[in-house]
Amino acid sequence: MSAAMTGHVPVLMNEVVDALQPRDGGRYVDGTFGGGGYTSAILDRAVCEVIAIDRDPDAIAAGKALAERYAPRLRLIEGRFGEMEQLLSTAGVSVVDGVALDLGVSSMQFDRAERGFSFRNSGPLDMRMAKSGASAADLVNGSDETELADIFWRYGEERKSRRVAHAIVERRRDKRIETTGELAEIVRRAVGPSAKDESDPATRAFQALRIAASSSVASPPPSRCWRRAAVSPSSRSTRWRTARSRNSFAPVRDARRRRRATRRRAPRNAPPPCTT
Ligand SMILES: C[S@@+](CC[C@H](N)C(=O)[O-])C[C@H]1O[C@@H](n2cnc3c(N)ncnc32)[C@H](O)[C@@H]1O
Repeated sequence: MSAAMTGHVPVLMNEVVDALQPRDGGRYVDGTFGGGGYTSAILDRAVCEVIAIDRDPDAIAAGKALAERYAPRLRLIEGRFGEMEQLLSTAGVSVVDGVALDLGVSSMQFDRAERGFSFRNSGPLDMRMAKSGASAADLVNGSDETELADIFWRYGEERKSRRVAHAIVERRRDKRIETTGELAEIVRRAVGPSAKDESDPATRAFQALRIAASSSVASPPPSRCWRRAAVSPSSRSTRWRTARSRNSFAPVRDARRRRRATRRRAPRNAPPPCTT
């Protein structure tokens, strides 16, 4: 599927496929199918098979045309890569030669206002990749002030997390916060302009909510998914962070830094549980 068809331009696609080194007769897992850019590139590189997983039902539906084009070499599965072992087993697959993960939000999700991932165009405050479960609006309107501050600090590294949380709680006394536009305005006012930072002041808070609502900060970590899945001894696994999902799979060094910073602050309740 081309970027023109899906609107998603895959990041580091060639590097990922080079690292996987697909071979004829091989079987690979694309754990974050999205617009199918990685999957197509793998299937074009060798006469191999791809099992593509995505938790977003829209991504799976849009991928049907690709599955037909590459039939029978492409299988699409709706689900979470954290359940890879079980999904593969249900599909009758016991061994794979490589796994690719491209963590984050796809353009198909980000650019559609109705999915509520972005403040660029106001839409319902949703942000659910799987289109089920608690939405960002539920989190914003239902979490207490401390929980909200935790989310903004932990997942967005928002230094004014407490101020943002307080502003949200004050506003929702009057009415439920329902749109990305409303929330962005509240955050912008709370954070104020920054001389150093040229990005929109709402960026960090939105990143944090995307992670919390979609549970992208995953437990278990993605690496464990393929360690548990049966992967052949010669297999390769590869993963890349995209700019939009920096925190969804931060390197160990960043995690240590965050843990130290969190310890310096007063301990707070943990944010809502996250699962892949
Ligand atoms: C950055 S996009 C992937 C783009 C893809 N590599 C391509 O070439 O088009 C990330 C995708 O991962 C999916 N995703 C995020 N978390 C997931 C999870 N835990 N399990 C399965 N899919 C997930 C999202 O729904 C989204 O479609």
